[in-house]
Amino acid sequence: MPYDAQLNFVFWSPTKIVFGENTALDVAIEVEALKCKRALIVTDKDLVTKTGIPEKIKRALGNLCAGIFSDVEPDSGIHIVNQGAKLGMKLGADCIVSVGGGSAIDTAKGMAILLKEGGKLQDYMGFQILTRPQTPHIVIPTTAGTGSEVTYIAVIKDHQKGRKLLFGDYNILPNVAILDPKMTEGLPPRLTASTGMDAMCHAIEALHSLQKEPIADGLALHAIRLIKEFLPKVVENGKDMMARGQMLIAANMAGVACSNAQWGMVHALAHSVGAIFGVQHGLANSILLPACLKYNADACGDVYLNILSAMGMRSEGIQLDQAGDVVADKIMEFTKKLGLPQRLRDVGVPEAGLKDCSELALSDGAIVYNPKFITDSAEVLKVYKQAW
Ligand SMILES: [Fe+2]
Repeated sequence: MPYDAQLNFVFWSPTKIVFGENTALDVAIEVEALKCKRALIVTDKDLVTKTGIPEKIKRALGNLCAGIFSDVEPDSGIHIVNQGAKLGMKLGADCIVSVGGGSAIDTAKGMAILLKEGGKLQDYMGFQILTRPQTPHIVIPTTAGTGSEVTYIAVIKDHQKGRKLLFGDYNILPNVAILDPKMTEGLPPRLTASTGMDAMCHAIEALHSLQKEPIADGLALHAIRLIKEFLPKVVENGKDMMARGQMLIAANMAGVACSNAQWGMVHALAHSVGAIFGVQHGLANSILLPACLKYNADACGDVYLNILSAMGMRSEGIQLDQAGDVVADKIMEFTKKLGLPQRLRDVGVPEAGLKDCSELALSDGAIVYNPKFITDSAEVLKVYKQAW
């Protein structure tokens, strides 16, 4: 019975969390606390040109700033990690301050490995390959969704092979996460919505993972409560700092939950449409979630009823065999109100491409923890078709 409380589990969440408006401007205190002197900022060009946030962080670091690497792209790849690490070595960086969304944070995790270990990034692909702490890493998220500031995972694309590589290691957990709502203030409504739905998927997948455990359950359920209440508010008014802060907390809690309990098929399928058709991660998750909920329903016991309660809805009287449809409908209603697309066909995925995606999804590490074992790509294809 996968949904009984686990008799044995390990919970691991060593990242220091600093929360509050303008706390990012105190980043130098965290660099000094780590006994570092040369911090390399890792970010993307859009943030540099459109928000000026990296420049603010540079000023806040003062003479502790070794430089800025701003070549991170969406779906960052191995070649970007290599370029960043090369610059870090040249500048003598002894720590990294990543400023951005999942792509910047995961790039920085890859760079932290190369700055410490050298060699080729691909040598460290897989799980628990590293044997010692990596280059100190402080994260300042500019989106509220990825949770990567507190996870032991980095997803980095191999653009040559058209697939996403997973790096899972407790030694790449960031040292500090600074959750400053001011850093997410300028995020446009659609990205706010889709990254927020990424956090929703983290919480739900942690709740029904084969490795679920009670501490992660508590974090995930509260994350769902916060997302249900505050995501519509930040999408409507991006200047609502209180709501922005609550979404950062929700994304963080959902990140800790799935870093311990793990992910599931929603992420495996989203990684694959992301790798092959470039669909933004949160958007892919948001679209695939309802179909995956329906597929997994009969293996999830009363988990879906708990999700409904956390979303503030009545769960009494709903039979377990109806719960999948009910939760899937509620999620679609929620994402529709957020203004997000509902179908893969709406985001540039051709029907003829679903077969390739389903084959790739079977080899994704996240699918291992899905509540239903999946070994047949035809099963995955059915779910993709439902979401198409
Ligand atoms: Fe995610």
